[in-house]
Amino acid sequence: MPIRRFLIATLLLLSSSHLIAQPKKFSLKGLFHRTHPKPTIISSVKTDKLYRPSVHFTPKAGWMNDPNGMIYVKGIYHLYYQHNPNASVWGPMHWGHATSKDLIHWKHKKIALYPNALGTIFSGSAVIDSNNTSGFGRGRRAPLVAIYTQHSMEGEKAGRDDFQNQSISISLNAGKTFKTYRGNPVIKTPHLRDFRDPKVFWYEPTSKWIMTLAVGDHIEFYSSPNLRDWKKESDIGGPSMGVHDGNWECPDLISFDLAGKKHWVLIVNVNPGAPAKGSGTQYFVGDFDGHYFTPYDRAAKWLDYGADNYAGVTWNNTGDKKILAGWMSNWLYAQVVPTQKWRSGLTIPRNLSLTKTADTTKDEFLVASTPIERVEKLEKWWGSEREKKIKLSKPFIIKRKQGIAPSRLQLHVDTANSFEIVLSNANKEQLVIGYDHLSKQYFIDRTKAGVSVFHPDFAAKHTAPRFANTKGLDMDIILDKASIELFADAGLSVMTELYFSKKPYTTIEIRSTTRTVVSKLAFHPLKSAW
Ligand code: FRU
Repeated sequence: MPIRRFLIATLLLLSSSHLIAQPKKFSLKGLFHRTHPKPTIISSVKTDKLYRPSVHFTPKAGWMNDPNGMIYVKGIYHLYYQHNPNASVWGPMHWGHATSKDLIHWKHKKIALYPNALGTIFSGSAVIDSNNTSGFGRGRRAPLVAIYTQHSMEGEKAGRDDFQNQSISISLNAGKTFKTYRGNPVIKTPHLRDFRDPKVFWYEPTSKWIMTLAVGDHIEFYSSPNLRDWKKESDIGGPSMGVHDGNWECPDLISFDLAGKKHWVLIVNVNPGAPAKGSGTQYFVGDFDGHYFTPYDRAAKWLDYGADNYAGVTWNNTGDKKILAGWMSNWLYAQVVPTQKWRSGLTIPRNLSLTKTADTTKDEFLVASTPIERVEKLEKWWGSEREKKIKLSKPFIIKRKQGIAPSRLQLHVDTANSFEIVLSNANKEQLVIGYDHLSKQYFIDRTKAGVSVFHPDFAAKHTAPRFANTKGLDMDIILDKASIELFADAGLSVMTELYFSKKPYTTIEIRSTTRTVVSKLAFHPLKSAW
């Protein structure tokens, strides 16, 4: 809940003795009006240089959380996002806007949706109504319709139960500007405090729009012939399904064709409850018939085992391609990470695919994520690629005085033995990525990676199970100035993590105490996308 988040973040700030003395009495009102955390560890010019990503999206200034309204229209990928333009912490939400032709190079656009009398603008989605089912189209111009939650901060503060409702806005200029629909809200809350994050898609067999909506501990499905009138179809979830340490948020329902059969994947973000603590993305594979979603298995599977990929959903209107991007942070500490001018960014967009695991005793499906192809465009031609076997009986070292980020490191190891990749600098800060063959786990250890005083849970080692059972393993790593993304075994095990080193890392050391052999290695410095 936003109030709780705000309170936790503010309490955290106030309680760190080196920051400011703790006041005796708190007033909720006072806390609410405080929008900027005072303490700064490093100046904003410096943090911009050190931490502003080179190959990821971040807002120019201010706060961002969830990606919203992601849609592909006429060769352009739109990214709207939860945005507070007035401070670099969460506050009254707007939809920021950016566009890209390749999901890597982004152009900042004007804010698309502003808070209005019905509330601030929470997460949601966008569709292109090509058949003009809504009647909002003009001539040949198909309307682009944004569907989002309106959150009344006053209603929440007053302790009411009707402050989250679903609204729509219409764009007739391909997503540049929007007009608010006069009949808003289109779905009124049934007096539930958590009733949000509509993700909508067109379901051909019944010729209806389908909305997935997060409602506390479950997901509700609604249908509509015209985006204005909605009918509840069913719900799924509750205590017997998945993880429930916190609210279910930001759902998505997507389908994959596998060996001539359609399977559906219900993505459900949850905060807290993730394997690496705090915010995370679980999913369930099953069937959907336009009314009901029937999971094959009610246990949670995780899209990403790192700490910093949340609220991810997919782009609409991309045909059979399913491309997901998440908010690269965690509600545990997102508001106190050591950047000032802006806070948070977007993960590298990922292609999702559904695979059946090699374990034939179980009918198990897994969703794999791999970085979108276009990252390759940023690779510098003078990166090094080796086909020769590298024996790790002696560490293999790559050094770059000017810093190793942004870069991409891809390697294949012949036998899945334990090994580590240590990124370090002259300050002795180090970020360790590796594989442990005894536990069959990948890991990212950021305990000594750099600044971590801002939150007790930040300095941690996180792990991801290895699902593949091939003899060798492969890793594809995208390193940016303050983030690392690991896609192992063609994206079956994925981890996304932030780090804040005081100086750029300059050395990569690949080492192992067992007889590990790297049979392929590619290291590519990346060009900045900005
Ligand atoms: C997820 C979330 C959504 C909500 C938005 C508010 O991070 O809590 O449920 O719509 O953030 O900014």
